[in-house]
Amino acid sequence: MQISGKGVFVSGGASGIGKATALELGRRGARVVVADMDEAGGKAVVDAIEAEGGEAVFQRCDVTRPEDLASAFEACKSTFGRFDIAFNNAGIAGEDIFEPDGKLWERVLDIDLRAVMDATRQEILLMRGTGGGVIVNTASMGGLVPMAGSPTYAAAKAGVVHFTRSLAGLGAESNIRVNAVCPTFTDTPLVRRNGDERLEELKAMVGGILQPEDVAAGVVELIEDDSRAGAIMRVTVRGGRDYARELRG
Ligand SMILES: NC(=O)c1ccc[n+]([C@@H]2O[C@H](COP(=O)([O-])OP(=O)(O)OC[C@H]3O[C@@H](n4cnc5c(N)ncnc54)[C@H](O)[C@@H]3O)[C@@H](O)[C@H]2O)c1
Repeated sequence: MQISGKGVFVSGGASGIGKATALELGRRGARVVVADMDEAGGKAVVDAIEAEGGEAVFQRCDVTRPEDLASAFEACKSTFGRFDIAFNNAGIAGEDIFEPDGKLWERVLDIDLRAVMDATRQEILLMRGTGGGVIVNTASMGGLVPMAGSPTYAAAKAGVVHFTRSLAGLGAESNIRVNAVCPTFTDTPLVRRNGDERLEELKAMVGGILQPEDVAAGVVELIEDDSRAGAIMRVTVRGGRDYARELRG
């Protein structure tokens, strides 16, 4: 799908990968709804897009609230007159599943998997009525390979991968393509939160660290390449951008 002039929803658009993608889509002429719980960060991204001559609007949205998602899609339609592309990217990391009072693991599942499924579900229902669209979900390399120390995150991201793969056939009847992007560690607040020492460990593990712009370039490719449906794109320091092979039963 050509990006210029399209109405786009980006969740987690206030920071990191979502911010870089919102900026890149704005540069390419998309009209962007920057959706996030972080109002100050989201509004700063809108200002940055506008400063470069693009069009954007901020929408406060907690992706775990179905009504917030619905309002953000409505904002895209009412502000820009169309809703064509969705980047379901908001996510968190954290692990406490084996702690007696652990609750964070439920929040990780809720944001990183259930909310992505709900967003995709609502987007498909809307896009069926408007002639089609493109949806990109942010998974992770942690959804393709085990992640010691982060089993809940890995399970959530594997869920996003498998959910997305299972929607490969959707396009034939509805002109809707759903793809996912799986980056290795990327230089964003999400990984920086754990301190410099951990950052160096992660870099050593996968051969360096991606920049959010590397992932944004992958998202652009998944939107523009009409042959990709149910595709799982890996973005890695060692291999650049490529596609995970389809699994066959
Ligand atoms: N950074 C990495 O190494 C890496 C690697 C692979 C995948 N990812 C995935 O990329 C996505 C973006 O992460 P990032 O690294 O840019 O992190 P980030 O922390 O920089 O950005 C995440 C954004 O999501 C927003 N957010 C969190 N919960 C939300 C909610 N309930 N509703 C709406 N917005 C919410 C945050 O406010 C923030 O702006 C996540 O899904 C993450 O799992 C990150």
